[in-house]
Amino acid sequence: MKKVLFVTSECVPFIKTGGLADVAGSLPKCFNKQEYDVRVILPKYMCMAQKWKDQMEYISHFYMYFCGSEKYVGIMKTELEGITFYFIDNEYYFSGFKPYGDMLWDIEKFIFFSRAALSALPVIGFKPDIVHCHDWQTGIVPVYLKDSFRGGEFYRDMKSIMTIHNLRFQGVWDIKTIRNISGLSDYYFTADKLKDFENGNLLKGGIVYADYVTTVSDTYANEIKTPFYGEGLDGLMRARSNSLCGIVNGIDYEEYNPATDAMIEYPYQADNFRKEKVKNKRALQKELGLEQDDKKMMIGIVSRLTDQKGLDLIACIMDELCQDGIQLVVLGTGEEKYENMFRHFAWKYNNKVAALIYYSEQMSHKVYASCDAFLMPSLFEPCGLSQLMSLRYGTLPIVRETGGLKDTVEPYNEYESKGTGFSFCNYNAHEMLNTIRYAERIYYDKKREWNKMIDRAMAKDYSWNTSARRYEELYSWLLGY
Ligand code: ADP
Ligand code: GLC
Repeated sequence: MKKVLFVTSECVPFIKTGGLADVAGSLPKCFNKQEYDVRVILPKYMCMAQKWKDQMEYISHFYMYFCGSEKYVGIMKTELEGITFYFIDNEYYFSGFKPYGDMLWDIEKFIFFSRAALSALPVIGFKPDIVHCHDWQTGIVPVYLKDSFRGGEFYRDMKSIMTIHNLRFQGVWDIKTIRNISGLSDYYFTADKLKDFENGNLLKGGIVYADYVTTVSDTYANEIKTPFYGEGLDGLMRARSNSLCGIVNGIDYEEYNPATDAMIEYPYQADNFRKEKVKNKRALQKELGLEQDDKKMMIGIVSRLTDQKGLDLIACIMDELCQDGIQLVVLGTGEEKYENMFRHFAWKYNNKVAALIYYSEQMSHKVYASCDAFLMPSLFEPCGLSQLMSLRYGTLPIVRETGGLKDTVEPYNEYESKGTGFSFCNYNAHEMLNTIRYAERIYYDKKREWNKMIDRAMAKDYSWNTSARRYEELYSWLLGY
């Protein structure tokens, strides 16, 4: 039995701010249980739903010297759908209303979490062969494994994998601060290790010291070797290219299933969407106060509202787009300027645009199910899960050809009757608008073609089946099987 530990800062259903939580929560369930014992460790945040906190079972606690004093490390545990989840408890660090906030505090918090997670393993009695780390919050784990945890027999042979879900966030602060918090010696703060210009960089540490580095799509794995997408680490990504690959994400096909989804009003599937799917649109139009018209093309957006998601392109052409016969439903939270931008257009075109500036799991399912098309014109997109959810619900994605969007959405080819969505190449607002308008023409003038595209979209398999096998192969290879 190969043992793997996921170390992550968020995980569905306990806590989620973005796609990382979906991956950490759904991938572990998809490994071959005869061969792999995959467990997950994350912080026990005060802001988790009470329901989850009530289910946790206390395992043990100890004190760990960290940042100048002995700090409490509690270990809690829950089992869910056959997976064991451990939680690191410390009210000083994890009592915020959100998992992330102030950067310096987050850096201290997640270095604490990383160190506590490794230190907890002998106490739990779980000795992973591979420690699988996710994003900057756990970047110091591979470094610790080669440093202060190297000595004893327990940790000596542990391998580590660093998976990059988003290279934009790296956990950067001045060297002195990071050195003091982490307890790492000066040795680590040179340009070939954690030093990044004049600063310390946690994700860089993870990428340098992990035994293998992965990211969440093939295209993104290549893109980050270039200056445009490399976020200052493209040189390092090129240097590590022999130990770097892209494994595209999947989604939980049980949770996101239009045939059984309890969060939508009218379930449907591949053989009856032509009649049933539109009922969801009708219900949503009514709920949101949009013009009630079955035939209106409804475009959806479910997204964190940050510049990563290409919202500047949308802002640029909103007035033009709203002259067309479309409806736009936006569900998202994030930067105020984008929240206000959508609020403004929802006010200006109130029967066409709905701005839902909040977070709601249920509303996201309704949007995936109700819309005809889904817009995701990202500036960069390591993988993207929303377009996979859209495909699953027969809602055709309109995407920019970058990262995982490029790898998962096949552009419509009207001559060969192929494709599952629409895409454009350059980060250009009118290129995007032209593509949206092309989609409108197919929707309004060639409905049969549109529906055949939905057939193809819903027939695609973006469950974890294929990708979990690729992680298994990587684990086996790392362990020398
Ligand atoms: P990212 O991780 O960059 O935010 P992904 O597409 O990988 O992008 O994952 C986003 C996830 O967050 C999806 O599951 C999406 O449905 C969800 N999501 C984003 N914003 C909201 C929101 N306002 N309400 C509900 N779910 C949301
Ligand atoms: C990040 C990326 C997103 C990816 C997700 C899960 O948040 O922005 O593209 O799908 O991680 O890997």
